[in-house]
Amino acid sequence: MTDANLLVGIETSDDAGVYRLTPEIALIQTVDFFTPIVNDPYDFGRVAAANSLSDVYAMGGKPLTCMNIVCFPVKDVDKTVLRAILEGGLDTIHKAGALMVGGHSVEDPEIKYGLSVTGLVHPEKFLTNAGAKPGDMLVLTKPLGTGILATALKARMLGEGAIKNVTGIMAALNKDAAEAMVETGVNACTDITGFGLLGHALGMAKASKACIRFHAGRVPVIPEAMTFASMGIVPGGSRLNERFCSKHLDVGSGIDPLLVNILADAQTSGGLLISVPKDKCGDLVKRLKDRDTPAADIVGEVMSEPAGVIQIR
Ligand code: CO
Ligand code: CO
Ligand code: CO
Repeated sequence: MTDANLLVGIETSDDAGVYRLTPEIALIQTVDFFTPIVNDPYDFGRVAAANSLSDVYAMGGKPLTCMNIVCFPVKDVDKTVLRAILEGGLDTIHKAGALMVGGHSVEDPEIKYGLSVTGLVHPEKFLTNAGAKPGDMLVLTKPLGTGILATALKARMLGEGAIKNVTGIMAALNKDAAEAMVETGVNACTDITGFGLLGHALGMAKASKACIRFHAGRVPVIPEAMTFASMGIVPGGSRLNERFCSKHLDVGSGIDPLLVNILADAQTSGGLLISVPKDKCGDLVKRLKDRDTPAADIVGEVMSEPAGVIQIR
């Protein structure tokens, strides 16, 4: 079945659907949930909620209502853990200016949590990964390495300070970044999650029929990530990402393979990758810095040829 009001459906690799209700208003709908990535249940709730809300921000929309999705081993784990997860989620929803309107929970041996989010956007102004234009600059709003650090955390190799830092990055909403890009007026956006910077950039390159060139040395990276990557602490999903992208990847000579590991690292609640016209790039970076986003770095550019390829220089 088709419907002229379905503006973004399942055909593209965007993570949310967009449906036009009136000439002025379209709905954005998205859902995401996963198993705990940090040990503290309140922090897990914050990270999971920020991650779920991110797909609305990546389209330049505003989240309106949220519903909890919960899997919890009621008989084996204390209810206070569940309460803390939901509290972390609710505090994050409030920070987003959205409303919690319900949810559903099931008994399950493994804890899982996330949100289904409904947001609003103007039907002619939403962003997808398909609008990147040759000559655009690429800006990234959070540093990479959360997959590697989460793996180190599970192996009890992370100190208090590093845990706090990576949790703060993952729990940060992409709200400020989205507002900055909407104010600036940009061409395309995608949020960086499980497929890593390379995977999501490849989605953008294919959808936009363009080539994306990254300047590896300019990509913001969480300090400890290089160290753990050099010790082989790289999650399986990140290795898969690298293999999945390899056919479309052109890595320049002299690029550190560890840096390529990090560019492919599966992120949880990562930042926005924004494709912005060159003459507006300085404006965007300034707006991001004014809002103190976790990063505001120009990491690459968009070229016309070869389409569907990621170059690392
Ligand atoms: Co998603
Ligand atoms: Co997404
Ligand atoms: Co129900």
